[in-house]
Amino acid sequence: MKPAAGSLLISEADIQRRITEIGAKISEDYKGGSLTVVGILKGSFIFIADLIRRIDPSILVEVEFITASSYGKGTVSSGEVRIEQDLSVPIAGKDVLLVEDIMDSGSTLNAVHKLLTSRGPRSLRIATLLEKESSRRQPVALDYVGFRIENVFVVGYGLDFAQHYRNLKEIRILDAG
Ligand code: IMP
Ligand code: MG
Repeated sequence: MKPAAGSLLISEADIQRRITEIGAKISEDYKGGSLTVVGILKGSFIFIADLIRRIDPSILVEVEFITASSYGKGTVSSGEVRIEQDLSVPIAGKDVLLVEDIMDSGSTLNAVHKLLTSRGPRSLRIATLLEKESSRRQPVALDYVGFRIENVFVVGYGLDFAQHYRNLKEIRILDAG
């Protein structure tokens, strides 16, 4: 049987193991506190669902989403970021964790980070499942990184190509052509 989308890059088990580690680290870092987790849609929805369940229940977790898009239908970032849907609560004075599926050029994270910073959170950190090697990188400080990957286009586990393949449990390199 032909594998869906392309060759396997990160297995379901490896993803889950790494998220457990990141969840433990976040639980330690925010011990005794509360946390507003902001997922960047759509790509982060599966990662955020798994991640928040690895955060110790003694931490009060609030979940919010913001919709940003930079890619359109292609596989190369346009560098332009549109905020299509904003948060539903104020974040002033809160400890905020911004959650992204993948950082490529960094323009999405940069734009959203700037926007959220302007609203005066008490703290603002970034978690990304994947960090892609990129030659056009904007400087963004990442606090929690799942995996560093080569400059290939990947799908699965929330990541799409033209809105498809988000439902794969693992991450695959998209077949060219
Ligand atoms: P950046 O703004 O260039 O950092 O691109 C980040 C956004 O582009 C992410 O939020 C993803 O939605 C999308 N993206 C970047 N690389 C990939 C990929 O390999 N597969 C799927 N989506 C990607
Ligand atoms: Mg995205």
